[in-house]
Amino acid sequence: MFKILTLNNISLAGLERLPRDHFEIASEIAHPDGILVRSAKMHDMDIPDSVQAIGRAGAGVNNIPLEKMSERGVAVFNAPGANANAVKELVLAGMLIAARNLAQGWSFARGLSGEDAAISKAVEAGKKDFVGFELPGRTLGVIGLGAIGVLVANAARALGMKVIGYDPSITVRSAWKLESDVQAAVSIDDLVSRSDFISFHVPLTEHTRHMINAERIAAMPDGAVLLNFSRDGIIDDQAAVAALNSGKLYAYVCDFPSNLLKDHPRVVTLPHLGASTREAEENCAVMVADQLRAYLADGNVRNS
Ligand code: MLT
Repeated sequence: MFKILTLNNISLAGLERLPRDHFEIASEIAHPDGILVRSAKMHDMDIPDSVQAIGRAGAGVNNIPLEKMSERGVAVFNAPGANANAVKELVLAGMLIAARNLAQGWSFARGLSGEDAAISKAVEAGKKDFVGFELPGRTLGVIGLGAIGVLVANAARALGMKVIGYDPSITVRSAWKLESDVQAAVSIDDLVSRSDFISFHVPLTEHTRHMINAERIAAMPDGAVLLNFSRDGIIDDQAAVAALNSGKLYAYVCDFPSNLLKDHPRVVTLPHLGASTREAEENCAVMVADQLRAYLADGNVRNS
């Protein structure tokens, strides 16, 4: 019998891939063989010596002490691509929220009260402040050309946008398998200088921390929009706030909570909802549960 410790709620569809006659699964369990985790931070956790494998029900693995686990010979699995569609959909929502001032308009509408005539008058006076812009012809720069970046790029093209992409390790042609319209940026600075929107789909590492800083923001077209559905830290938020205040940046949409950003009128913060759909949670849980089962029960390493 293999014991699996769950550190977060893991979709039932995934847990069902670990048959009860071979796997005992609980949120508290002594001497676990495996761990299933979503967002719980494991860096300061006392990970029992019995653990042989960890399954992360998501793409990013920055909540797991990878180096320590690899020294101990613990296998770590993740679910690349399993939540890509969910993230793509939220990136599209983020672009529209920013371009059409939806958060500001919603907040304004919620503050309206009184008689119908008074509300109509307030709407006529107030809605001019929320005039937005349309997406066709605008350029989206996609940084990170993995599963999510590809979906975001294609979806943006379907909306009539121009798309350019940059990834330090793979070429646009091989990543996107797209023949027309999509262009490769020769460097991150090239992409930055040409993009009305930039969407980030790279993990947070020492190389990507603050990859967008004051200097790069200054090089962007005026009125550009930043979309960070990856990780807090990729953008220098102090620099972003200064650029929002000066009007250099039009908006900043980010999928993480932030004390610095949350009250800024041109920022929309979300509580890391990119992968929070039923479908994505199931896909991720199934993918990592299958990997854990294959590894623990059969000694096989699967990468999908
Ligand atoms: C990911 O890395 O795929 C996301 O952080 C998943 C999640 O929201 O748990």
